[in-house]
Amino acid sequence: MVWRQNRSPRLSDELLPWRLEMAKFPVNGKAFIVTGACPGLDKWSIGAAIVTKLLDGGANVLLADMNGNVQEFANKLGPRAFAMVGDVTDSTFRHSLITAPMEIWGLQPQGLITAAGITRDAFTVKPPKDGRPAVLASLDDIRLVLEVNLLAPYCLARELVAHLLNVGMLSAKDPTLKVVIGFISSIVAHGNAGQAGYSMAKAAYLGLIETLLQEWGKYGVHVAGLFPGFTDTQMVEKVPPKILELQLLRTRSHKLHDPCDVAKQWVAALEEAEETQVWCDYFNHGAKAIRGANARLMAY
Ligand SMILES: NC(=O)c1ccc[n+]([C@@H]2O[C@H](COP(=O)([O-])OP(=O)(O)OC[C@H]3O[C@@H](n4cnc5c(N)ncnc54)[C@H](O)[C@@H]3O)[C@@H](O)[C@H]2O)c1
Repeated sequence: MVWRQNRSPRLSDELLPWRLEMAKFPVNGKAFIVTGACPGLDKWSIGAAIVTKLLDGGANVLLADMNGNVQEFANKLGPRAFAMVGDVTDSTFRHSLITAPMEIWGLQPQGLITAAGITRDAFTVKPPKDGRPAVLASLDDIRLVLEVNLLAPYCLARELVAHLLNVGMLSAKDPTLKVVIGFISSIVAHGNAGQAGYSMAKAAYLGLIETLLQEWGKYGVHVAGLFPGFTDTQMVEKVPPKILELQLLRTRSHKLHDPCDVAKQWVAALEEAEETQVWCDYFNHGAKAIRGANARLMAY
């Protein structure tokens, strides 16, 4: 797999001169929504790690997760953290997330990080065995993976932008950077056998980010994606050890990323809010930029 490194200027660069003037985006005093924010029993999730980094930076953070333990986690983090338990595929829950920061802290949400995600691993076609015919992967599982990993973040992002337009916080007349939306993703370039649905969902972010930037850049909304490699969370515990070992051999570092390192990179990148859009740490070629000269690398 080879990504083109020297691309001609993109259409969006010409359409969106504001991107060249983007200021820093200190998180201090801003309200963020982070989905997938519950830590695992004995491991951080990427979302939980991002929450703590945002709090360290002085932000107020709404933690969203379907795991009820997120409540106890938020209680320990203090008054700038607040948990809401629910399913991001539920439109009523998503709507309540958008309006909550104003009710809790008197702040409109200025950042959204969508880290809730699931896998439902299965080979697309399992070959015939013991006289039984080939078996196809469950389409219901694939639909669920697309729903949680792709459609829910997209719906949440657009609901946030619609809300901020409604309350008059975003305007094409003043396109200075006001909101950052980030998708946490992976698998874009390397694929992973047994994860067809997951790779469909995550790869779609590349087109989505470009499209949303073109639609929302004029209001001062920055859309970005972080595409880390395998990270040491509960999600990866589900990968059979032999497969994980083989996959890690193909990485540059040969080891799992620490979710706290991933979070540190993400929040630092938010605060700088450069033209950076996509970071990628993918296999075979080490860590390389998808986005060209302005891209920041997640290099380990
Ligand atoms: N771990 C990795 O190797 C890795 C690498 C790159 C990207 N990612 C992506 O990063 C994100 C976070 O992954 P992670 O490794 O922290 O996973 P994780 O399993 O540790 O955490 C995911 C969290 O999302 C929550 N969640 C799942 N479905 C939900 C739903 N419908 N509504 C609300 N909450 C829901 C879970 O309860 C869990 O707390 C995911 O989008 C994942 O695809 C993970």
